[in-house]
Amino acid sequence: MSTATPVKPKAGLEDVVAGESAICYIDGDRGVLSYCGYDIHDLADMDHGVSFEECCFLLWHRRLPSRAELGDLQTQLAAARILPEPILRAMKSMPHVDGMDALRTLTSMLGHFDPETALSTPEANYRKAIRLAGQLSSLVATWGRIQAGGGHIDPDPALGHAANFLYMLTGTRPSALAARAFDVSLVLHADHELNASTFAARVSAATLTDLHSAIVGAIGALKGPLHGGANAEVMKMLLEIGQDAGVERAEEFIRAKLARKEKISGFGHRVYRTEDPRATHLRRFSKSIGDKAGQPQWYAMSDRIEHVVKAEKKLNPNVDFYSASMFYSLGIPIDLYTPIFAVSRISGWTAHVLEQYQNNRLIRPRTEYIGPAYPQQVLPIDQR
Ligand SMILES: CC(C)(COP(=O)(O)OP(=O)(O)OC[C@H]1O[C@@H](n2cnc3c(N)ncnc32)[C@H](O)[C@@H]1OP(=O)(O)O)[C@@H](O)C(=O)NCCC(=O)NCCS
Repeated sequence: MSTATPVKPKAGLEDVVAGESAICYIDGDRGVLSYCGYDIHDLADMDHGVSFEECCFLLWHRRLPSRAELGDLQTQLAAARILPEPILRAMKSMPHVDGMDALRTLTSMLGHFDPETALSTPEANYRKAIRLAGQLSSLVATWGRIQAGGGHIDPDPALGHAANFLYMLTGTRPSALAARAFDVSLVLHADHELNASTFAARVSAATLTDLHSAIVGAIGALKGPLHGGANAEVMKMLLEIGQDAGVERAEEFIRAKLARKEKISGFGHRVYRTEDPRATHLRRFSKSIGDKAGQPQWYAMSDRIEHVVKAEKKLNPNVDFYSASMFYSLGIPIDLYTPIFAVSRISGWTAHVLEQYQNNRLIRPRTEYIGPAYPQQVLPIDQR
């Protein structure tokens, strides 16, 4: 055991290296993001990039799958997309709550119906990771459908993960452009090193709690507006500006917000000092999907907002800024934006939890005590 004096890091653990991982690499000064050595721009290429299923395999195995391995994983994911009947019933009987609250509760419930919840061998944990990835996608799509007053739709095993999600949500098989754009957006959100929710998952896993418990903790962390909740906040802001308001009004709105010293959701990042490489792709989708949907105003307003925030605050858009208008133009309800983040990030969370289990040590840092001087005398209650 070390007896060294604890070192006090910067607030928010900024720039602290809190562990080793072979999953994701970020160079925030150069705007590099890579999964297991593969550059995100190559993985997210519309024509030559990978599917979300290949991305899952990559994060879980640290290498891309062969055709046979991919086929096996697709089959396993498709089977996992069929939700246990009690979960469907619970969903139908739940009140109208926030999508992330529903996802947190239902993911916890999934643990009650998983045959291997308490079994923590590497093989069982891998099977659970696949099941969770399949189930979360069906949970979110079905939740969205039920909340919109529609009936539950069975998954279509012939569809890829992304296309199936859109099908289960809307009841319509998506166009090739919509399916691939959504697929790429899942790839872009899949992992991001030691972000808040992944850290939460690893801290939980390091106590040797079960995988479902670790993921429930991660979902709670993702919900916050400083993390995954930002995408929904961005769209609420665009709607508050107004769909017919125009770019001048959008600029006025943002300048007023900045003058009031308010933060603009979808901007800034703890690690990137350059453009968030994920935003590069999502910006393009925001435009192409918006044009296709006959809703070019969201991109136009977002573009103007980006210019103002860059000029005034030197802040770049992050992953949540352009994903908001892209999801909106795909017809996805705002309440599902952060849950969709989880539909993708489940791949990274589970990869990190499996990695944590492989070489575990309890994560237990220290605080610097700033409370009343020690020792205080415990006075009888009438003398306090
Ligand atoms: C992502 C985020 C939490 C990173 O935070 P951080 O590294 O702790 O940076 P801070 O919140 O300390 O911000 C540093 C400075 O930049 C400003 N800033 C950061 N993000 C800002 C934003 N989105 N809008 C306006 N100003 C912002 C802060 O006000 C602060 O200014 P100050 O030093 O004058 O007080 C932060 O940029 C943010 O809150 N962004 C909006 C929420 C969001 O989009 N989250 C998704 C992240 S992927």
